[in-house]
Amino acid sequence: MKKSVSIIALFAGLLFAFIFLTDYQRVSASGPLAVHPTGSIPDSVMTFFKNTCMDCHADGGNGMAKSHVNFSKWDTYSTDKQADKASDICDMITKGKMPTKGWLKNNPDLAPQKRDIDKVCKWADTFKK
Ligand code: HEC
Repeated sequence: MKKSVSIIALFAGLLFAFIFLTDYQRVSASGPLAVHPTGSIPDSVMTFFKNTCMDCHADGGNGMAKSHVNFSKWDTYSTDKQADKASDICDMITKGKMPTKGWLKNNPDLAPQKRDIDKVCKWADTFKK
C-alpha cells in the first residue's frame, strides 16, 4: 500500500515537472525578453531590412551605403548610435528616399508599403526615452 502511494506521488511529481518545463519553454519563447531586447532588431522588422535594404546596407553591399548603416554590424553599434540610425531609417523610408530609385526599378514588388513603414518607425520609437 505504502509503495503504491509513493509511486503515485512520483508520477505526479514527474507530470508536474513535465508540465512546468514545457510550459516554461513556451512562455520564455514568446515572453517579454524575446519580443525586443533593447538594441536587437525584431524578426518582422529584420525581414523587411533583409528584403529591401541589405543588398546594399550589409557586408558584401555598397561601400557608401555601409558607411551610413551596415546591418551586419548593427549589434556592434552603441545604443545611442542605434537610436540615431533607427530614426534616420524611419525618416528615409517615410520620405521615400530609401531604397534608391534604381533599386526600386529592379525590385518594384519590394517597394515599402505603409504597414512596413509604420512597423519600422514604431520600432525606431522604442529607442526614444
Ligand atoms: C541600391 C542600394 C541601396 C538600397 C537597396 C538601400 N540603400 Fe540606403 N543608401 C544607399 C547609399 C549608396 C547611401 C549613401 C548615400 C549618400 O551618401 O549620398 C545610402 C544611405 C542611407 C542612409 C543614410 C542617409 C543619410 O543621408 O543620412 C540611410 C538611413 C539608409 N540608406 C537607409 C536605407 C534603408 C532603411 C533601406 C531599405 C529600406 C535602404 N537604405 C536601401 C544605398 C541603398
